[in-house]
Amino acid sequence: MFERTPMIAGNWKMNLSVEEAVALTEAVGSGIGNVSDVEVLVAPPFTHLAAVKRAIDESRIFLAAQNMHSEMSGAYTGEISGRMLQQAGCTHVILGHSERRTLFGETSEVVNLKVRAASFLGLIPIICVGETLEERESDRTFEVIKEQLDVSMDNFRADQMMPTTTILAYEPVWAIGTGKTATPEQAEEVHQFIRLWIEKTFTSGVAAQVRILYGGSVKPENVKALMTEPDIDGALVGGASLKGDSFVPLIHYREA
Ligand code: PGA
Repeated sequence: MFERTPMIAGNWKMNLSVEEAVALTEAVGSGIGNVSDVEVLVAPPFTHLAAVKRAIDESRIFLAAQNMHSEMSGAYTGEISGRMLQQAGCTHVILGHSERRTLFGETSEVVNLKVRAASFLGLIPIICVGETLEERESDRTFEVIKEQLDVSMDNFRADQMMPTTTILAYEPVWAIGTGKTATPEQAEEVHQFIRLWIEKTFTSGVAAQVRILYGGSVKPENVKALMTEPDIDGALVGGASLKGDSFVPLIHYREA
C-alpha cells in the first residue's frame, strides 16, 4: 500500500499582525522537534508572506497563500497572481475555500481557472470542497461534492491527468469555525467518496497517492481520532492554527 505523508496545515485567514505571525512561525518551527514524517504548512495573509518566509528559515514548514487570481498579471486591481506568490516564497495555494465560495461568490468555474493557473506555474493547489448544513440535511452531500470536484478539476479531467502533488481538502461548511466537528466516521465516508472519484476519473494509482485533508474545527482533542481514519491524510486547521499551544500538538497528533 502506498504511504501518504500526513500534512498538518494552518489557514490563518485574516488574522494576526506581522509580528504575531513571525512569532507563531518561530514557535511552530521549533515545535516540530523530531517529527520528520509529517508535512507542516502555514497560510498567512498576503501581506505577511515575505516576513513569514524569512522566519521559516531552516525549519521544515511549507508556505501557502489563501487565494490567488487566475491571470498571471494585468489590470486586476487588488488581486495577486500565482507568480507573485512564488516570488514571495509560496509553494502551495489554498483554492476554493468555502469562505471564498460563500462570501466572495467564487464558483467552481472560477476555482478551476485558478487550479489551471496554479498547475501551470507548479504551485501545489489545496482544493477545498464541502457541503453546507442544508445540503447535508437534504441528503445532497455526495452530489454537491461530486459537482465541486468535476468542475474545479475540469482541466485535469480534460487531460485525463491529475498530478499526484495536488492536495484536496474536505471541509464541511457546517463544521468550519462552529466548534462542530464531523465525526471521524462522517468525515471518512466523504473522504472515501472523494478517493473513489479520483480512482474513477483518473487511476487507482493516482487515488492512492493524492492526499485528502479534513478541515472543520480540528483541535488537539479530536485530531488523533480523525487521523486514524484510513482516508484522512491530514488536517486543514483554522482557529486552532492561530496559537502555537494548539497548533504544535496537532503536528504531534500521534502522541495525543
Ligand atoms: P476551523 O477552520 O478549524 O476554524 O473550523 C477550518 C478552515 O476553514 O480551514
